[in-house]
Amino acid sequence: MPGAEWRRYVEENTQAVLQVGGQDRARVRLLRCPDGSVALLKDFSRANWLYRQTIGRLSIHNESAAHAAADSLRGVPRLLARPNADSLLVEAVAGRSLNTIARETHRLPFEIIEQARQLLTGLHALGIAHADLGHDADGWFGRDANVLWGEDGQLYLVDLASAVFRSRCPAPVFEAFCWHDRLLITKILRRFFPDRQDEPEFHMHQQMPASQRRWLKLLKKI
Ligand SMILES: Nc1ncnc2c1ncn2[C@@H]1O[C@H](COP(=O)(O)OP(=O)(O)O)[C@@H](O)[C@H]1O
Ligand SMILES: [Mg+2]
Repeated sequence: MPGAEWRRYVEENTQAVLQVGGQDRARVRLLRCPDGSVALLKDFSRANWLYRQTIGRLSIHNESAAHAAADSLRGVPRLLARPNADSLLVEAVAGRSLNTIARETHRLPFEIIEQARQLLTGLHALGIAHADLGHDADGWFGRDANVLWGEDGQLYLVDLASAVFRSRCPAPVFEAFCWHDRLLITKILRRFFPDRQDEPEFHMHQQMPASQRRWLKLLKKI
């Protein structure tokens, strides 16, 4: 579709805006597709020209590459299309972000822990670290966990924009990002299952090797 026609299609078929976007943030919305399904469209249409052409494009390119590489993994939404260099269309997950789920009102099944373990082991085995899962270790998750609990009972990792590839990264740095990813399990345990102190990941944030901790501090990940 030519650019102007595509932009009109998007405006006319936006079902909901999930994130308004801004100078340095992507606009994220649910888009009705011609076949009646709904997909998630992420673009940098609100960013200024320079940001869109540089960091925006790199970010979309990186996220698309990570989706393509993780395509076989259950729990990572499928990449559906790259409408243009500034946007990507991915499978929309019906569910809720973990940071919006309150422990007091919602009981998550403990199976979520095994799903997180499998998902992260699978992702890392494919040579990809997510690198942006939650922002602390006490279960508070910060403003955006980038993890959804699907209505189908599956845990989903979204927002692969910061993904790091083993093939393009020094081994100790890649390992540090994998450590950071695995802390997701610590966060889920501490927020939703505070009495499960017997699980190996419960105190993992205190057991991180000093070298990995130094890398993550340097990269402002902890
Ligand atoms: N595939 C998806 N299905 C449903 N909701 C999603 C999906 N991807 C992202 N979201 C929701 O949109 C929010 C913003 O998208 P995200 O990719 O995290 O943008 P940003 O890179 O700016 O953080 C996410 O926190 C999540 O709640
Ligand atoms: Mg995000």
